[in-house]
Amino acid sequence: MLIAIDGPAASGKGTLARRLATHYGLRHLDTGLSFRAVGAALLAAGVALDDEEAAIAVAETVDLEDLDRDRLNAHGIGEAASRVATMPALRAALVARQRAFAQGGGGDGAVLDGRDIGTVVLPDAVAKLFVTADPATRARRRAAEIRQRGGTACDTDILADLVRRDRRDSDRAVAPLKPADDAYLLDTTGMDIETAFSAAVEIVERAKAGRM
Ligand code: DC
Repeated sequence: MLIAIDGPAASGKGTLARRLATHYGLRHLDTGLSFRAVGAALLAAGVALDDEEAAIAVAETVDLEDLDRDRLNAHGIGEAASRVATMPALRAALVARQRAFAQGGGGDGAVLDGRDIGTVVLPDAVAKLFVTADPATRARRRAAEIRQRGGTACDTDILADLVRRDRRDSDRAVAPLKPADDAYLLDTTGMDIETAFSAAVEIVERAKAGRM
Protein backbone atom coordinates (compact mmCIF):
# COMPACT_ATOMS: atom_id res chain seq x y z
CA MET A 1 0.00 0.00 0.00
CA LEU A 2 1.76 3.13 -1.21
CA ILE A 3 0.50 6.56 -0.23
CA ALA A 4 1.84 9.71 -1.93
CA ILE A 5 1.56 13.08 -0.21
CA ASP A 6 2.71 16.22 -1.97
CA GLY A 7 2.38 19.92 -1.35
CA PRO A 8 4.23 23.19 -0.85
CA ALA A 9 6.47 24.06 2.12
CA ALA A 10 4.77 24.11 5.53
CA SER A 11 1.44 22.91 4.14
CA GLY A 12 1.13 20.31 6.90
CA LYS A 13 1.91 17.41 4.54
CA GLY A 14 4.71 16.08 6.79
CA THR A 15 2.53 15.88 9.88
CA LEU A 16 -0.25 14.23 7.89
CA ALA A 17 2.17 11.75 6.31
CA ARG A 18 3.56 10.76 9.73
CA ARG A 19 0.08 10.37 11.20
CA LEU A 20 -1.13 8.31 8.21
CA ALA A 21 1.93 6.05 8.45
CA THR A 22 1.21 5.39 12.15
CA HIS A 23 -2.49 4.86 11.45
CA TYR A 24 -1.90 2.27 8.70
CA GLY A 25 1.26 0.74 10.26
CA LEU A 26 3.41 1.76 7.28
CA ARG A 27 6.95 3.11 7.06
CA HIS A 28 7.33 6.80 6.34
CA LEU A 29 9.86 8.79 4.35
CA ASP A 30 9.93 12.59 4.32
CA THR A 31 11.70 13.01 0.96
CA GLY A 32 12.28 16.70 1.70
CA LEU A 33 14.75 15.55 4.35
CA SER A 34 16.75 13.66 1.70
CA PHE A 35 17.14 16.88 -0.33
CA ARG A 36 17.89 18.74 2.90
CA ALA A 37 20.61 16.21 3.80
CA VAL A 38 22.30 16.88 0.44
CA GLY A 39 21.99 20.68 0.78
CA ALA A 40 23.28 20.61 4.38
CA ALA A 41 26.27 18.40 3.46
CA LEU A 42 27.30 20.73 0.62
CA LEU A 43 26.94 23.78 2.88
CA ALA A 44 29.03 22.11 5.60
CA ALA A 45 31.75 21.17 3.10
CA GLY A 46 31.79 24.67 1.61
CA VAL A 47 30.88 23.23 -1.80
CA ALA A 48 28.74 25.22 -4.28
CA LEU A 49 25.08 24.21 -4.25
CA ASP A 50 25.14 23.63 -8.01
CA ASP A 51 28.01 21.11 -7.85
CA GLU A 52 26.04 18.15 -9.20
CA GLU A 53 28.83 15.61 -8.86
CA ALA A 54 29.36 16.40 -5.17
CA ALA A 55 25.58 16.39 -4.61
CA ILE A 56 25.20 12.95 -6.22
CA ALA A 57 28.03 11.55 -4.10
CA VAL A 58 26.08 12.59 -0.97
CA ALA A 59 22.78 11.29 -2.41
CA GLU A 60 24.30 7.87 -2.99
CA THR A 61 25.53 7.46 0.57
CA VAL A 62 22.96 9.26 2.72
CA ASP A 63 21.06 6.90 5.05
CA LEU A 64 17.37 7.41 4.32
CA GLU A 65 16.45 5.34 7.38
CA ASP A 66 18.29 7.70 9.70
CA LEU A 67 17.72 11.32 8.62
CA ASP A 68 18.09 13.76 11.51
CA ARG A 69 14.81 15.67 11.32
CA ASP A 70 15.63 18.12 14.14
CA ARG A 71 18.91 19.19 12.55
CA LEU A 72 17.77 19.17 8.91
CA ASN A 73 14.49 20.98 9.45
CA ALA A 74 16.31 24.26 10.19
CA HIS A 75 14.65 26.92 8.06
CA GLY A 76 17.85 27.93 6.23
CA ILE A 77 18.51 24.37 5.07
CA GLY A 78 15.17 24.42 3.22
CA GLU A 79 16.52 27.05 0.83
CA ALA A 80 19.67 25.00 0.12
CA ALA A 81 17.50 21.90 -0.44
CA SER A 82 15.28 23.74 -2.90
CA ARG A 83 18.36 24.87 -4.83
CA VAL A 84 20.02 21.46 -5.09
CA ALA A 85 16.61 19.99 -6.01
CA THR A 86 16.72 21.75 -9.40
CA MET A 87 19.56 19.45 -10.61
CA PRO A 88 18.13 16.62 -12.75
CA ALA A 89 20.87 14.02 -12.15
CA LEU A 90 20.74 14.59 -8.40
CA ARG A 91 16.96 14.10 -8.50
CA ALA A 92 17.40 10.86 -10.45
CA ALA A 93 19.87 9.57 -7.83
CA LEU A 94 17.55 10.42 -4.93
CA VAL A 95 14.40 9.15 -6.65
CA ALA A 96 16.05 5.72 -7.14
CA ARG A 97 16.78 5.57 -3.42
CA GLN A 98 13.31 6.85 -2.46
CA ARG A 99 11.69 4.12 -4.59
CA ALA A 100 13.93 1.49 -3.01
CA PHE A 101 12.79 2.72 0.42
CA ALA A 102 9.15 2.47 -0.66
CA GLN A 103 9.63 -1.13 -1.88
CA GLY A 104 11.61 -2.15 1.23
CA GLY A 105 10.49 -3.20 4.69
CA GLY A 106 8.93 -6.44 3.48
CA GLY A 107 6.99 -4.74 0.72
CA ASP A 108 3.97 -3.88 2.91
CA GLY A 109 4.00 -0.32 1.62
CA ALA A 110 4.97 3.14 2.76
CA VAL A 111 3.90 6.74 2.98
CA LEU A 112 6.19 9.17 1.15
CA ASP A 113 5.79 12.93 1.24
CA GLY A 114 7.45 15.58 -0.92
CA ARG A 115 6.83 17.52 -4.13
CA ASP A 116 6.87 14.90 -6.91
CA ILE A 117 5.77 11.71 -5.17
CA GLY A 118 2.44 11.32 -6.98
CA THR A 119 3.81 12.51 -10.33
CA VAL A 120 7.29 10.89 -10.49
CA VAL A 121 8.39 8.77 -7.53
CA LEU A 122 5.25 6.65 -6.98
CA PRO A 123 2.93 7.21 -9.94
CA ASP A 124 1.07 3.97 -9.04
CA ALA A 125 0.37 4.92 -5.40
CA VAL A 126 -3.05 3.76 -4.27
CA ALA A 127 -3.84 7.16 -2.78
CA LYS A 128 -2.43 10.56 -3.72
CA LEU A 129 -3.03 13.68 -1.69
CA PHE A 130 -1.97 17.18 -2.62
CA VAL A 131 -1.98 19.20 0.59
CA THR A 132 -2.18 22.98 0.42
CA ALA A 133 -2.92 25.94 2.68
CA ASP A 134 -2.83 29.61 1.86
CA PRO A 135 0.66 31.16 2.07
CA ALA A 136 -0.09 33.35 5.13
CA THR A 137 -1.37 30.33 7.06
CA ARG A 138 1.69 28.30 6.11
CA ALA A 139 4.03 31.13 7.16
CA ARG A 140 2.23 31.47 10.51
CA ARG A 141 2.51 27.71 11.14
CA ARG A 142 6.22 27.63 10.23
CA ALA A 143 6.99 30.67 12.42
CA ALA A 144 5.09 29.13 15.37
CA GLU A 145 7.05 25.89 14.91
CA ILE A 146 10.36 27.80 15.01
CA ARG A 147 9.32 29.73 18.14
CA GLN A 148 8.21 26.52 19.81
CA ARG A 149 11.74 25.19 19.35
CA GLY A 150 13.11 28.28 21.08
CA GLY A 151 14.09 30.22 17.94
CA THR A 152 12.96 33.63 16.75
CA ALA A 153 10.91 34.08 13.62
CA CYS A 154 9.18 36.92 11.84
CA ASP A 155 5.98 35.89 9.97
CA THR A 156 6.66 38.36 7.13
CA ASP A 157 10.22 37.13 6.49
CA ILE A 158 9.08 33.51 6.64
CA LEU A 159 6.26 34.27 4.19
CA ALA A 160 8.73 35.83 1.72
CA ASP A 161 11.02 32.78 2.04
CA LEU A 162 8.17 30.32 1.49
CA VAL A 163 6.82 32.18 -1.54
CA ARG A 164 10.32 32.30 -3.10
CA ARG A 165 10.89 28.61 -2.42
CA ASP A 166 7.44 27.61 -3.78
CA ARG A 167 8.15 29.56 -6.96
CA ARG A 168 11.51 27.81 -7.50
CA ASP A 169 9.97 24.38 -6.72
CA SER A 170 7.02 25.01 -9.07
CA ASP A 171 8.96 26.59 -11.94
CA ARG A 172 11.86 24.12 -12.21
CA ALA A 173 12.08 22.09 -15.42
CA VAL A 174 12.30 18.63 -13.80
CA ALA A 175 9.60 17.21 -11.53
CA PRO A 176 8.08 20.54 -10.54
CA LEU A 177 5.70 20.86 -7.60
CA LYS A 178 2.25 20.13 -9.03
CA PRO A 179 -0.66 17.86 -8.24
CA ALA A 180 -0.82 14.52 -10.11
CA ASP A 181 -3.88 14.32 -12.35
CA ASP A 182 -5.36 11.72 -10.00
CA ALA A 183 -4.40 13.47 -6.74
CA TYR A 184 -7.03 14.57 -4.25
CA LEU A 185 -6.59 18.19 -3.18
CA LEU A 186 -6.78 18.83 0.55
CA ASP A 187 -6.73 22.52 1.55
CA THR A 188 -5.92 22.66 5.27
CA THR A 189 -6.40 26.44 5.64
CA GLY A 190 -8.60 26.91 8.70
CA MET A 191 -8.33 23.22 9.70
CA ASP A 192 -6.67 22.00 12.86
CA ILE A 193 -4.51 18.89 12.60
CA GLU A 194 -7.24 16.50 13.82
CA THR A 195 -9.71 17.76 11.21
CA ALA A 196 -7.09 17.55 8.46
CA PHE A 197 -6.09 14.04 9.57
CA SER A 198 -9.71 12.80 9.54
CA ALA A 199 -10.15 14.25 6.04
CA ALA A 200 -6.92 12.57 4.89
CA VAL A 201 -7.98 9.14 6.26
CA GLU A 202 -11.34 9.49 4.51
CA ILE A 203 -9.57 10.24 1.21
CA VAL A 204 -7.26 7.22 1.60
CA GLU A 205 -10.19 4.94 2.47
CA ARG A 206 -12.14 6.09 -0.57
CA ALA A 207 -9.08 5.67 -2.79
CA LYS A 208 -8.47 2.16 -1.43
CA ALA A 209 -12.05 1.24 -2.16
CA GLY A 210 -11.61 2.57 -5.70
CA ARG A 211 -14.24 5.21 -5.16
CA MET A 212 -12.19 8.28 -6.08
O1 DC B 1 9.48 19.44 2.19
P1 DC B 1 10.71 20.32 2.55
O2 DC B 1 10.35 21.73 2.79
O3 DC B 1 11.52 19.72 3.63
O4 DC B 1 11.61 20.26 1.20
C1 DC B 1 12.79 21.01 1.06
C2 DC B 1 13.08 21.24 -0.41
O5 DC B 1 13.42 20.01 -1.04
C3 DC B 1 11.91 21.80 -1.21
O6 DC B 1 11.91 23.21 -1.22
C4 DC B 1 12.15 21.24 -2.60
C5 DC B 1 12.90 19.97 -2.37
N1 DC B 1 12.09 18.77 -2.54
C6 DC B 1 11.90 18.32 -3.84
O7 DC B 1 12.32 18.97 -4.79
N2 DC B 1 11.23 17.15 -4.07
C7 DC B 1 10.74 16.44 -3.04
N3 DC B 1 10.10 15.30 -3.28
C8 DC B 1 10.90 16.90 -1.71
C9 DC B 1 11.58 18.09 -1.49
